Amino acid sequence: MGKIHKQLVIAIDGPAGSGKSTVSKIIAQKLGLMYIDTGAMYRALTLKAVRQNLDLRDEKALAKLACSTRVDLEEEGGSLKVVLDGEDVASLIRTPELTNNVKYIACVPGVRKEMVKSQRSIGERLGAVLEGRDIGTVVFPDADYKFYLDADADERARRRHKELAKTGMNVNLNELKKDVLSRDESDMKRSVGALKKAPDAIFIDTTDLTIDDVTEKVLSYIKVRGEDSIS
Ligand code: DC
Repeated sequence: MGKIHKQLVIAIDGPAGSGKSTVSKIIAQKLGLMYIDTGAMYRALTLKAVRQNLDLRDEKALAKLACSTRVDLEEEGGSLKVVLDGEDVASLIRTPELTNNVKYIACVPGVRKEMVKSQRSIGERLGAVLEGRDIGTVVFPDADYKFYLDADADERARRRHKELAKTGMNVNLNELKKDVLSRDESDMKRSVGALKKAPDAIFIDTTDLTIDDVTEKVLSYIKVRGEDSIS
């Protein structure tokens, strides 16, 4: 009889620019787990709502949209495809305009319900490193490992600036800091799936750490359960 391996679920939460995306990707690769960028899922749905000219304050319409939308995350050649109803939209979902609109979608309970459902179904089946805002508190409160990454707002804005510059976007650093702070506020204050550290999450301040430092730190807590199987 074959062995059933309980799959490893690792939750990494934190605000924008805390370094969680880069680190989550590396950890997933090192452990052979799926990487689930839950922010990309909210971003893709926002793109669809904007394309359809929906009123972003119409919670009913947004919840309905979430129920009839499919967002898949697929890894291809080291990069992540964000597939919205069959179309790869990865290159369209990180503009500052779209980023500012995600908050309207992310605060709708009906939207979050659908997102959480699909994030759970992927994670439970295959095991994964999931990064977001509510992974350790709502999506997988019983995750095997939970981390909460944070960094100083100036440093987070600088990181965003660098990232956007790489894609050819030159956004004013002060504007970016304002965006980062206003996003923190809407992420922390919404009534559902708010950004917060799970009581049992390991807190890492990444302000003065390199990506390698953070990766090493996260990995130092994780024991890979090669033999940890249920027969
Ligand atoms: O991680 P990110 O910056 O790509 O996320 C974009 C937005 O999506 C973020 O401002 C809030 C929202 N989000 C969320 O509400 N819940 C998650 N689990 C992930 C992201």
